[in-house]
Amino acid sequence: MQPVSRRQWLRTTGLGLGATVALPGLLPASDMARALGGDVSYDDMLAQMERDVTEARRVAGPIRLCFNENPFGMSPKAKDALMEGWAQHTWYQPPIRETIRETFAKHVGVPADHVLVTQGSSEVLSILAMAYSLDGGEIVAPWPTFEDLPRWGDTLRATVHKVPLDAELGHDLDRMTDAVGRRTKLVFVCNPNNPTSNLANDSELRAFVSSAARRAPVIVDEAYYDFVDAPGHKSMVDLVLKGEQVIVSRTASKLYGLAGLRCGFAVARPDIVAKLQQYVTGDPNVFGLHAANAALLDTAYQQFAQQKNREGRTLLLDTLNRLGRRAAPSQTNFVFFHAGKPVEQLQRYFTERGFLIGRPFPPFSDWARVSIGTPAEMQQFVDLLPGALSA
Ligand SMILES: Cc1ncc(COP(=O)(O)O)c(C=O)c1O
Repeated sequence: MQPVSRRQWLRTTGLGLGATVALPGLLPASDMARALGGDVSYDDMLAQMERDVTEARRVAGPIRLCFNENPFGMSPKAKDALMEGWAQHTWYQPPIRETIRETFAKHVGVPADHVLVTQGSSEVLSILAMAYSLDGGEIVAPWPTFEDLPRWGDTLRATVHKVPLDAELGHDLDRMTDAVGRRTKLVFVCNPNNPTSNLANDSELRAFVSSAARRAPVIVDEAYYDFVDAPGHKSMVDLVLKGEQVIVSRTASKLYGLAGLRCGFAVARPDIVAKLQQYVTGDPNVFGLHAANAALLDTAYQQFAQQKNREGRTLLLDTLNRLGRRAAPSQTNFVFFHAGKPVEQLQRYFTERGFLIGRPFPPFSDWARVSIGTPAEMQQFVDLLPGALSA
């Protein structure tokens, strides 16, 4: 491994020399250890990172609570690994491509031939749309949900059935079942769902997915799986292992904080992986693969990021509850709540005070989606909330 100097790292992160000395928590793990005097545990480094990231984000401002990003970014060990990309960055077929496939396969408990590594999980959705509905046909999806697959369906001139969520903001599985027919080419479910943040009832969704998969391929978008802490919650990967026509998508963008480095994963039967492979339009970049591979192995950082997310999420949900606002029971790194006014007004209020929040998600135009920042940021945010809601 080629360690990067602190100065190099901070130059690349754009923080400048002034910040290099003041904010060691932004450094790769190896450099942070040196900067903090050598004898420092990884937990201490993560605590330093929390303080310094909060400071750096405050200075960089505005605070982004709008795109469901991990406020801490990548783990210090992933920053170390990122630099290993230098060794392979001039090569086609860098070995890390196979390494990460195996690491992720082990992470989710499937053979490596069940995994396709993509440029973010959005690419799983685009290649699925191309693989299954290039010649039209129908797509069934809940609405609102993450828009990429329905949007690709529109682009490819498929008929997209957007089935409205039910009164509890869940997938309306009865109506989705009715919408699946002879011409259906793809069925989309998103669990937990974006923008609503809630988790579907496990056995009901599982029964729906299995039964729909007998008629058409079903894509289960699990971009937020890593934030779920509902007891007993299970991924749908086991349906893939049973040989069902199910494709599970995951991402390195959320818990692992690598959205800009573009790395995602599809888990599916090998014949489906082979079919999807034919539609891939490019390869994930070698730096992102190195960082994602290290992030998958860095369980201490994962637990840290999950815990910090839980703290910020609980603070926001408790505050909304005290203010008498309805909020979906979030199992993600964002919260969706009833603002009681056009969300653009709330966006303006917070922008003027240094926070960006999510866009409107019609027909829930008076609901707001707020991503979870660092605990300190969430404290500032909830302090502003009563004023924002009553303004
Ligand atoms: C539900 C869902 N799926 C997929 C994505 C795409 O993420 P990426 O392409 O960065 O993996 C997002 C991004 O916000 C999302 O919310």
